[in-house]
Amino acid sequence: MWRSLRKDGSADKMSALPEAAEEWHMRATVVGAGHVGATTAEYLLREGLADVYLVDVAEGLAEGKALDMAQAAPVLGHSCRVSGGTDYGPAEGSDLVVITAGIARKPGMSRDDLLKVNGGIMAQVARDIWRACPEAVVIVVSNPLDVTTHIFHETSGFPTQRVLGMAGVLDTARFRTFIAWEVGCSPEDVSAMVLGGHGDSMVPLPSQASISGVPLTQFLDDDAIARLVQRTRDGGAEIVGLLKTASAFYAPAAATCQMASAILRDEKRILPVCAYVNGQYDLHNLFLGVPAKLGRRGVEEVVVIDLSADDLEALHKSAEHVRSSIEAWNAMKGAS
Ligand code: APR
Repeated sequence: MWRSLRKDGSADKMSALPEAAEEWHMRATVVGAGHVGATTAEYLLREGLADVYLVDVAEGLAEGKALDMAQAAPVLGHSCRVSGGTDYGPAEGSDLVVITAGIARKPGMSRDDLLKVNGGIMAQVARDIWRACPEAVVIVVSNPLDVTTHIFHETSGFPTQRVLGMAGVLDTARFRTFIAWEVGCSPEDVSAMVLGGHGDSMVPLPSQASISGVPLTQFLDDDAIARLVQRTRDGGAEIVGLLKTASAFYAPAAATCQMASAILRDEKRILPVCAYVNGQYDLHNLFLGVPAKLGRRGVEEVVVIDLSADDLEALHKSAEHVRSSIEAWNAMKGAS
């Protein structure tokens, strides 16, 4: 049972709360209670962003992790509730859904290798979420990201505005980190943008990068920038190579939480996310990494920035790669 924690650390009795207490918190469902899902749930709770329901096919996993997280609340000092299970009933009425269900990359696997397994899982989850909480905003995290976001949308009845994928914030965070290390400054002061698909064809934009407003080119030469761009492209694989049996989860969960905050708190933040484009950047009918304004209604606007001819070409190449993965998925679907 939920107790709200007062600032002095004492707990209100449930009976002392007005009947509307159930409505005080936003509600988020996190699908998949593995590395990324559980860490995302923990960050959402710590930030006090929402009550969280964790759902996973593995019997006991979501329930056990939720119980553990609930017991951390008195120490961490938040009043968000968390529960877990294997069915979608408690997801009903969620304001936000984060989908991390699927398998993670193993060494040597590309994100596209994951397509067959995670595509099937995503189609199933899309049907379940559509039944349980059709009013939610949905953030897809499972890879291969741009295609799973497409699959979620095509299988569910959600409007494009309320379906988005998490990748650009993560890729940008990696780029910002590597720039900060090279320059020897705080990563917080580095501003950057990575667009395109979440994979080898991603498009880091050094021309848009700056440190406290000063263009990156005043700090680093072309060779250094090219090295950091490549490390950003390889950022996920570098971690898979070290972990061997898992892929990254702290930074993916932090990036997801930043997007969740923008949506649940209606912050109108402009972040690089996998959003539906139809006309912007001369791209049509596709989910792809672009800057977008996020608020309570989901993707409230795809923001079009001036890109150089080379960057625009790279974005279109990336879009082609995503389209070919979607075709591969359609062929797999047809064959099964
Ligand atoms: N419904 C709910 N949960 C599912 C389903 C399903 N149909 N299928 C699998 N899962 C659960 C698994 O039981 C597991 O607990 O998804 C969880 C995935 O957790 P991990 O294996 O730890 O994977 P994780 O590192 O969290 O990555 C999940 O996010 O970043 C991406 O590439 C990554 O696609 C991967 C996803």
